[in-house]
Amino acid sequence: MATSEAILQVLLPRLHHSDLCTKSLNSVHTIKANVNNRRIKIPVSMQVHSCSRKSQNCRRRVYALQSRGSVFHEKTDVGRLESMGCQCQQAEGVSGLTTGDQNETRFKEKTTRLTSNPINGKISAPSIEGYGVGQQLKHEKEDLVINGKAAAAGTTKDKLDKGKVNVIEDEAWNLLRNSIVYYCNNQVGTIAANDPSNSNILNYDQVFIRDFIPSGIAFLLKGEYDIVRNFILHTLQLQSWEKTMDCYSPGQGLMPASFKVRTVPLDGDDSATEDVLDPDFGEAAIGRVAPVDSGLWWIILLRAYGKCSGDLSLQERIDVQTGIKMILKLCLADGFDMFPTLLVTDGSCMIDRRMGIHGHPLEIQALFYSALLSAREMLAPEDASADLIRALNNRLIALSFHIREYYWIDMKKVNEIYRYKTEEYSYDAVNKFNIYPDQIPSWLVEFMPSKGGYLIGNLQPAHMDFRFFSLGNLWSIVSSLATVDQSHAILDLIEAKWDELVADMPFKICYPALEGQEWQIITGSDPKNTPWSYHNGGSWPTLLWQLTVACIKMSRPEVALKAVEVAERRISQDKWPEYYDTKGARLIGKQAQLYQTWSIAGYLVAKLLLANPSAAKSLVNEEDSELVNAFSLISANPRRKRVRRRQSFII
Ligand code: GLC
Repeated sequence: MATSEAILQVLLPRLHHSDLCTKSLNSVHTIKANVNNRRIKIPVSMQVHSCSRKSQNCRRRVYALQSRGSVFHEKTDVGRLESMGCQCQQAEGVSGLTTGDQNETRFKEKTTRLTSNPINGKISAPSIEGYGVGQQLKHEKEDLVINGKAAAAGTTKDKLDKGKVNVIEDEAWNLLRNSIVYYCNNQVGTIAANDPSNSNILNYDQVFIRDFIPSGIAFLLKGEYDIVRNFILHTLQLQSWEKTMDCYSPGQGLMPASFKVRTVPLDGDDSATEDVLDPDFGEAAIGRVAPVDSGLWWIILLRAYGKCSGDLSLQERIDVQTGIKMILKLCLADGFDMFPTLLVTDGSCMIDRRMGIHGHPLEIQALFYSALLSAREMLAPEDASADLIRALNNRLIALSFHIREYYWIDMKKVNEIYRYKTEEYSYDAVNKFNIYPDQIPSWLVEFMPSKGGYLIGNLQPAHMDFRFFSLGNLWSIVSSLATVDQSHAILDLIEAKWDELVADMPFKICYPALEGQEWQIITGSDPKNTPWSYHNGGSWPTLLWQLTVACIKMSRPEVALKAVEVAERRISQDKWPEYYDTKGARLIGKQAQLYQTWSIAGYLVAKLLLANPSAAKSLVNEEDSELVNAFSLISANPRRKRVRRRQSFII
C-alpha cells in the first residue's frame, strides 16, 4: 500500500473515498446522467466527485458524481464513458487481477452497458432475445460433474432437457446483469426486483445487502470481481453513516439493510445532476426493523471475495479491517444477556417482519458464527486487536456449545423434553430453561422423522420455538456451527420431509405456518404473512443456493441437484417470483415480486456450484479443531470458573 494511502486510511479510515472525491480531473468526460427525467449521455466538466459528507440537514449524502451541461453525444462516445469508469476504478486501486483479467472484465462491462437499456436496473420488459449480453456468455460445462461423476447424457429427451436448462441459465444471467446498479459508472450492486410491469415496487428498487450476496457470489464464481469489490467498499462507507430514528442512534458498526443510488439535481444548478447513495438502516423500512444480518453477510462476502479472486489486499486495507472490527464490536458488546447467542429484535434478518423471531433466532446465530470465524481468518494480527480476538474466540466456543447442546432436537430429544421435570433450581438442572413439556406441538411428533433432526428456531426461558427455519439450519451446516452428525441429520430430515419442505418449489422458509389465533397474535394479523404465504411458510427459490452449499459441504450434492431440477420445471415460466404460496408451493406468492433478483442469482449460484463443487470452499467454514477440543472440555464441565473479563476493544 502506498504510504500516502496508508496515512490517509489511518487518518480518515471511514472516508477512504475522499482521495477520489477531491480529485479534479480538469478535463471533459462523458457520463450518463439523468436530466429532466431523460437518461442521456452528456459531457461533464469533471469535478468527479463532490464528495462532501454533507452534514446535519443532508445526512444521507455520502458522495456524489456531478454532471453539467446537456449536449447529446453519439454512441461512439461510449468508449469515453467507459474510460472514465476505468479511471474511477484505477483511482480505487483495484488490484489482485491480472491485466488480462481486467481487460476481460471491462470488456464484459462494456458490452453490458452497450446492450442493456438500464442504468440502475430500470429495464424494459424482459425478453430473452432483447438482451444481447447472452451472446457473450459461454455456457457452463454442459454436463454436471459432481464429485467426479459426470451426469449421464444420452437420450434425446436428456438433450432436449439440457437445451431447456441452458436457455433458463442464459435468461437468468441476462436478468441478473440487467439488475445491476451503477454509481459513478461503477457497478455497485443489484436491485432487489426488476419487474417492469409492476408499479408497486415499494423498496424493491434498492440494493439490499442480504439480497446482493447470491448476486455477488454468482459474479465471483464467474470471475467478475469488480462489482463485489465496489459493493464491499461502498457499503463500508455507509457503515459509518450517521443513522438515527427519532433522535436515537444505533451502534456505529451497523450496516444498512439496503441502499439506493439516486440521481438528483445538483444544488444550485438546474442543468446538472449528481448521483447520491441513500442508505436505509431500518429507519424507513416497514416496521423499522434493524438489519442485524447485513454486517454479518458483509463479512462473509468479503472472505468469499478474497478466496475467489485471490486478492487479499481488500481485506487487508485499514478501513476494511476497521469495518470488520466495528461489526464485531457491536456484536460482542456486553449486555444483560445470559446466553452467548446474539440477542436481537424481531425481523432482524431475511424474515424482516414480525414473525415471533425476536430473542435468539437461529438464522442470526448461524450467520454470527460464520462471520466470527471468517473475521478471525481475516483480521490482521496486532496487539491492539488482542482483546477483540480473545473475546471472539471465547464467544465462538460458547456459541457452538450452546447451539449444539440446547437448540438440537431429534426424536430422542423430543422424548426427553416430553418427560422433563420442571421448576428445577440448581446449577445442574437438566431442564435448564424450564421448558414445560406441554409446549411440544402436536405437529412436531408427526414431522420429526425417526432418522434425522434439526436445530430449533429460537430458545428463551420457558420457550422453545420448534419451527424449522431453513436458512438457519442450512447455514449452521455451512458454517460448521452444527456438528458433522447434526449436519447429516438435518439433510436426512430434508430428504425425509421433501414433500413438506420442497414439494413444488424449493424451499420453505419455515415449517409449519402459524395459523389461527397464533397467527393473529404473533404476526399482528399481518395480511401478507397469512398461513403458507411469504415469511409464514412460503417457499423461497433463493434458498436454493444455501441448500446447495450445505449439500456440497456434506458431499451430498444429489439432494441439491434434485431441488434444482424441481425449480427448473417452472421458475422461468413463472417469471422468477420472490416466493410461492400454499403448503405445496403450488401458487406464485400472492404479493410476490416477479423477476426477483435473488431468486435468479440463487438459482445461478446453485448451478455454478453443482458444476464446480470445489468452489463452495469460499463459503464454507471448516470445523475448527481447537473449538472441538474446547467443546469437549465444556461438555465435561459446563460450569466454568468465574473470571473477570476485560472487554474494551480498541478500534
Ligand atoms: C423482503 C424480504 C427480505 C428481502 C427484501 C428484498 O422484505 O423479507 O428478506 O431482503 O424483501 O428482497
